[in-house]
Amino acid sequence: MFLSTILDKPVCQPIKKPYERWYTFMEKNVEFWLPDSEWHTKAHCARVLLLALLIGHQKGLSEEEKDALGMAAVFHDSRRHDDGIDKGHGSRAAAYYKEYCREHGLSYDAQTYYITYYHDQDDSLGLSEIAKSSDLSEQAVLLYQIFKDADALDRFRLGPDGLDENFLRTEEARQLVDFAKDLLQKSNETNA
Ligand SMILES: [Fe+2]
Ligand SMILES: [Fe+2]
Repeated sequence: MFLSTILDKPVCQPIKKPYERWYTFMEKNVEFWLPDSEWHTKAHCARVLLLALLIGHQKGLSEEEKDALGMAAVFHDSRRHDDGIDKGHGSRAAAYYKEYCREHGLSYDAQTYYITYYHDQDDSLGLSEIAKSSDLSEQAVLLYQIFKDADALDRFRLGPDGLDENFLRTEEARQLVDFAKDLLQKSNETNA
């Protein structure tokens, strides 16, 4: 699912290449524990990937930082036991990411690890753990917020009231609400 109709929009041009690269990587290499999941499918991760790259681009992130978000998007829901809150799936996915890097030579990024680890926890916990870590710069806070906004923007898949926009953390994400709805619709149409 390359989401061609969306990717060809001018707004997506700057992030089309990294989207295609990480999407293909996920399809080929990332194993999901819950392949029959209703809500946390690879299609969900693909939309989060696109949204995270878009917000990241609009925030002026470097290519490396966008890759850190891309890796988090393709791994973040891969280690779920169920479709509920399933607290702890973030830490399991982070462990999988770390092990994958060691075994397959993917470049390890501490930001990806922390974002993935704490994406299923309250911001207060995620942010305080990021602040405590000596491996991370302040920029990791911004990456965490961008990622959580991208994941939240795909909550419309749960229903029209799936997202309370007041909880979004970045202005860029607030501007992408209609885009996220359109993305979901196009993604469902291509049935992937
Ligand atoms: Fe998750
Ligand atoms: Fe997610």
